[in-house]
Amino acid sequence: MRKPVIAGNWKMHMTCSQAKEFMDSFLPLLSMNTDDRHIVIAPPFTAISTLSSLLQDSPVELSSQNVHWEEKGAFTAEVSPEMLLEHQVKFAIVGHSEPRKYFSESDEQINRRAVSAQKNGLIPIVCVGETDEQREKGEAERVIRRQVEQGLEGISTSHLVVAYEPIWAIGTGKTCESEEANRICSLIREWVGSDDLIIQYGGSVKPANIDELMRMSDIDGVLVGGASLEPQSFARIANFQA
Ligand code: PGA
Repeated sequence: MRKPVIAGNWKMHMTCSQAKEFMDSFLPLLSMNTDDRHIVIAPPFTAISTLSSLLQDSPVELSSQNVHWEEKGAFTAEVSPEMLLEHQVKFAIVGHSEPRKYFSESDEQINRRAVSAQKNGLIPIVCVGETDEQREKGEAERVIRRQVEQGLEGISTSHLVVAYEPIWAIGTGKTCESEEANRICSLIREWVGSDDLIIQYGGSVKPANIDELMRMSDIDGVLVGGASLEPQSFARIANFQA
């Protein structure tokens, strides 16, 4: 039984006071029983401590937006697993297309981040996905397969989430058709060879498409950017009905 993971990636949005304001509106909107799903927020590092105290008695869990592979050292701007665990962070996004694109993160670095996260007790959310151009050239499957194989080397599939995020669908309003997203998610499952692996879809997920996406056989959750910044819309997504 794969428990869905509904995660909101706040990217570089939300000060501590805005995060608190968000939760004041969001928490009362959640359904009474959320035991059958994980509801996760990935705030910027600066809001993690505030949210950790605020969410103590709530069903909402925390993720980081990245994590370094070393425990400590001369790695300016990086954050270690231990620093996150101190704030009860449970998940760590790695390999999101934005750090891949803007900071040239490689599959090898992403793999090191994921391995270390898992070794230290965090659940990595490893993002993969093709560009528009790669899809048009018919290279999508090959690119995703390479990201999956290199990104997940040496990783156990039991404390792991893979997020399929076609880059052309991120922040563009162009959602990948549910059937196509499901097809790629089922290919990822086949390549990884695990029926238990949690696979999310991400890219312009919104209240209008969440129920359909969550009805798909191989989509076990979503990674949401824009629509997670507004309490009503993220609550509707978290309260999905499949
Ligand atoms: P989006 O972002 O929902 O705004 O398309 C998704 C993501 O980047 O994870």
